[in-house]
Amino acid sequence: MKLNLEKALLTESVFDYQEEVARLHEMLHNKTGKGNDFVGWVDWPNTYDKEEFERIKKAAADIREKADILVVCGIGGSYLGARAAIEMINGLYSDDKLEIIFLGNTFSSTYISQVLNYVKGKRFVVNVISKSGTTTETSIAFRLLKQMVEEQYGKENAHNYIYATTDKAKGTLKNLANVEGYETFVIPDDIGGRFSVTTAVGLLPIACAGIDIDELMRGAKDAFDAFSTPDLKENIAYQYAVARRILEKQGKSAEMFVSYELQMAMVAEWWKQLFGESEGKDGKGLLPYSGTFSTDLHSLGQFVQEGTKMVFETVINVDKPTLDITFPEDKDNLDNMNYLAGKSVHWVNQMAAQGTLEAHVDTGSVPNILVSIPDMSAYSFGYMTYFFFKAIAMTSYMIDINPFNQPGVEVYKKNMFKLLGKN
Ligand code: PA5
Repeated sequence: MKLNLEKALLTESVFDYQEEVARLHEMLHNKTGKGNDFVGWVDWPNTYDKEEFERIKKAAADIREKADILVVCGIGGSYLGARAAIEMINGLYSDDKLEIIFLGNTFSSTYISQVLNYVKGKRFVVNVISKSGTTTETSIAFRLLKQMVEEQYGKENAHNYIYATTDKAKGTLKNLANVEGYETFVIPDDIGGRFSVTTAVGLLPIACAGIDIDELMRGAKDAFDAFSTPDLKENIAYQYAVARRILEKQGKSAEMFVSYELQMAMVAEWWKQLFGESEGKDGKGLLPYSGTFSTDLHSLGQFVQEGTKMVFETVINVDKPTLDITFPEDKDNLDNMNYLAGKSVHWVNQMAAQGTLEAHVDTGSVPNILVSIPDMSAYSFGYMTYFFFKAIAMTSYMIDINPFNQPGVEVYKKNMFKLLGKN
């Protein structure tokens, strides 16, 4: 993974922040900073439960044997990481034998009904994921799924078709799983939802998708090693963290996560949760939003190029695509496209990225932070997610924010519960 700040139009050097970064790094690693109850993710690539990890692989192999569909039921941090990984690594039209469908992430009655109608009568298994066990979107979907499983497979067999990922000892879902005899996996106490993709929360669905989770954890471990130094010259996660703060000082209020791969769109959604929920509090923080180019160059591209100068872009380039196509010659050339004959479509994508960089930075004066990953493998996913964990922790501490809570999300719930008549 590489970071290039040459096009970020920074008016200060990131290295001027070395002292501050070293102090905040100590706070994070010594667990003396804000939200220090939730920094279990820092050492997780070394400390994760190896016995549970093997159990995840075994459960995934069983699920792939007995089902054609896995319904993953969860929301927020209990949903986005798994979906981001599966789409990035397997692509959007994977021919893997197990289809994965996400539920529990909405109150849309149409979506819920369509998913239930779609899986009914098919060989399906459920993985319900909730740390609290009380999230309403997830609970509604899970009750409906549980009744369908019991109807389809029989009450006495239902425990073979439902897997629960939740708190190790307490909560509504843990109690329910104990009573019903479901196999359970643990969301560690000291890891919040949006930092949980490399725990069972993400790993079980990801392994079910046929992805090598050993490789994913190897990527996370290598990133742990690379980003455990306070030295800004060595640590690109911290360089990125500082660059964001400098751009904010320069008047930017929004960061656009850009990739040129449609299968990275859910990575952007995962990143938006990670960054938005972590630093968007106390009236502070950059608005995280996203675009997938060149698709969105035909929509948001206009705003980035010529709209209000509030935006900077963080562009994730993928060096090697999972698949490539050579553009064919056509003897009639009625579409006048023969000038590209023999070229790879990935090369065209790269030229689009280069042309856009020049347009946005040189013509539009929009700062671009450039990040590159070698490919869209499990290893790169594990590495990249840890990079963003370290970056958001540092960049949030730089503005004196607790990156590990989300008090703001309770406000809508309080109002909704009143309207729903919940006691
Ligand atoms: O980041 C977070 O903590 C949230 O997005 C939660 O993950 C989300 O609300 C789901 O919570 P739970 O796992 O308790 O159902």
